[in-house]
Amino acid sequence: MRRLLRSSVRGRGPQVRRLAAWSLLQTLPAFLSGLLVARAIDDGFLAGRTLTGFGWLGLLALSVLAGGWATRQTFLRLADIVEPFRDELIARTVHGALRRSTQTAALADSASVARLTQQVEIVREAYASVLLVVQGFIVTAVGALLGLLTLAPVMLVLVLPPLAVGLGLFALALPGMATRQRTSILADELLAETAAGTVAGAMRDVAACGAEEQVTAMIGEPIDAQAHATRELARFTALRTVAVAIGGLLPMLLILIAGRWLLQHGASTGAILGALTYIAQGVHPALQTLVRGLGNTGLWLFVTLARIVEETEAPADTQATERLWPPQPRGHDVLLRNVTFSYGPTSEPVIDNLDLVIAEGEHLAVIGPSGAGKSTLAALIAGLLEPQHGAVLLGGAAVAELDATTTARCRTLIPQQAYVFAATLRENLAYLRPDAPDAMIDDAVDRLGARTLIQRLGGPGAELDPHALSAGERQLLTLVRSYISPARLVILDEATCHLDPAAEARVERAFADRDGSLIVIAHRISSALRARRVLLLDAGHALQGTHDDLLLRSALYRDLVGRWGAPPPRRTPPRSSPAGADHSHAPRGSNARPTTPLARTSRHANS
Ligand SMILES: Nc1ncnc2c1ncn2[C@@H]1O[C@H](COP(=O)(O)OP(=O)(O)O)[C@@H](O)[C@H]1O
Ligand SMILES: [Mg+2]
Repeated sequence: MRRLLRSSVRGRGPQVRRLAAWSLLQTLPAFLSGLLVARAIDDGFLAGRTLTGFGWLGLLALSVLAGGWATRQTFLRLADIVEPFRDELIARTVHGALRRSTQTAALADSASVARLTQQVEIVREAYASVLLVVQGFIVTAVGALLGLLTLAPVMLVLVLPPLAVGLGLFALALPGMATRQRTSILADELLAETAAGTVAGAMRDVAACGAEEQVTAMIGEPIDAQAHATRELARFTALRTVAVAIGGLLPMLLILIAGRWLLQHGASTGAILGALTYIAQGVHPALQTLVRGLGNTGLWLFVTLARIVEETEAPADTQATERLWPPQPRGHDVLLRNVTFSYGPTSEPVIDNLDLVIAEGEHLAVIGPSGAGKSTLAALIAGLLEPQHGAVLLGGAAVAELDATTTARCRTLIPQQAYVFAATLRENLAYLRPDAPDAMIDDAVDRLGARTLIQRLGGPGAELDPHALSAGERQLLTLVRSYISPARLVILDEATCHLDPAAEARVERAFADRDGSLIVIAHRISSALRARRVLLLDAGHALQGTHDDLLLRSALYRDLVGRWGAPPPRRTPPRSSPAGADHSHAPRGSNARPTTPLARTSRHANS
């Protein structure tokens, strides 16, 4: 970064020399101010020659005008240095992005170029203002000190040491301030990300799930870190004020205290007032501007420039991994490879070494006794749980590593406990796709058979009272919401358990016809009969096949189904069976009720 700043002046000799020349003219009013005030007092006002006094002051006014013109010129000369520096930074940024994209064969990261160019603009402004402040201070300080030397050299003894101490103190504090400023900015960003980004957008869910404590713990840490960083920064800001007081105010105090002694040693009243003018009008404000400028803008320059350097100089491979992070799924194939999951380090695995592929567009039913791990499997596929061994991939990316927005866009998991909230019906239905057009909502409502319910509740604009709904009604609304969502992978975890069999069949068929994949954790055997493929889970182990396969191969499956008497094996898989056809596969017999909940079946019934 230093190299970069140094290179901004190196090779620009002529521009720098021109700037120095105009700066010299700029020192004129600073140099003359004290001298002319001293003259106006000693030779004019104190000597009874008021007109002469005004004459000297008039000269001072003229010198200020000349100084103003010189200031205008230095502004232009500063631009000669700042603008090429900006161009150089932009060139670096674009060059860096191109280099990375050619080295990694990844797409050129145009977003990072846009972000960096914006940062370059910040640097440009900050750099110009820092140069201006430093140049202004040098001009004023040099002018004032030369003036003091001319006026009464003895006064330098009172001014120089405190000024040096003040400047030294500030210089010592500057690196610490820079570090703390950076920490404070990073803490701010982290807090904005967790509090504003994650939590603020999910307040309703946090309240609904009673997760206040967890969320407090989650954002408590960044809040503490940010408070700490701010306190540290404030401490250094106080040091800044002390530096200005020592460098700018103490000299004035010393001159006042030593006034009598100065008069006795040959200094005139005019000289004392002239010296005070140098400090009060020149050195003190210039020091204040310098400290404030370097302490604020200068630190921004430092922090932003450091970021640009980091981003443009980072090795290509880390840049590439950063850009590929978080990973993006390609498609919606689900792949489980050797997945083992247990809830505790010593507890038996709920899912044991499971391999499973669910191709995009597939319809899979998962069945098994209560406690077999069906919900656990659903949570693993949805990325809500992470396996201890093996991998769960969605579109080739580890699902637990996707960022929340991507996961939400790709899949939706509807649990047994439906969650509706106090808002309008429409807000509830379009929760996962807030910009859903009315036609899309209407279509979903009709397909899932929710029209009567919606009408009874007063239409999409009506306010919803969650407590006034039955469990089945809540479930139906949640199902419509998921149907509307953009997710192409839908996981129904006994999400239809409160619907009657006909309504359940209608919902499942609608989801099966919807674009994408469907995983149904079956609550009734009819769900398994509707799916092309069935996964039977038991005590961590899994068996897959068609309904007919499983009838042949698994005693547990026969038992689960056999509560109603097993239907004979069939040759054709029941893909897209027409409405009402389910019952053709349904078991027959006196208590042949294909809709009896599976959950009542014991998990050890096959032993
Ligand atoms: N959060 C949890 N902590 C500890 N054990 C759990 C937790 N959730 C489920 N289990 C246990 O894991 C096993 C599988 O549960 P689950 O996946 O809910 O089964 P299913 O959905 O098939 O009824 C059960 O023995 C259950 O007690
Ligand atoms: Mg379950």
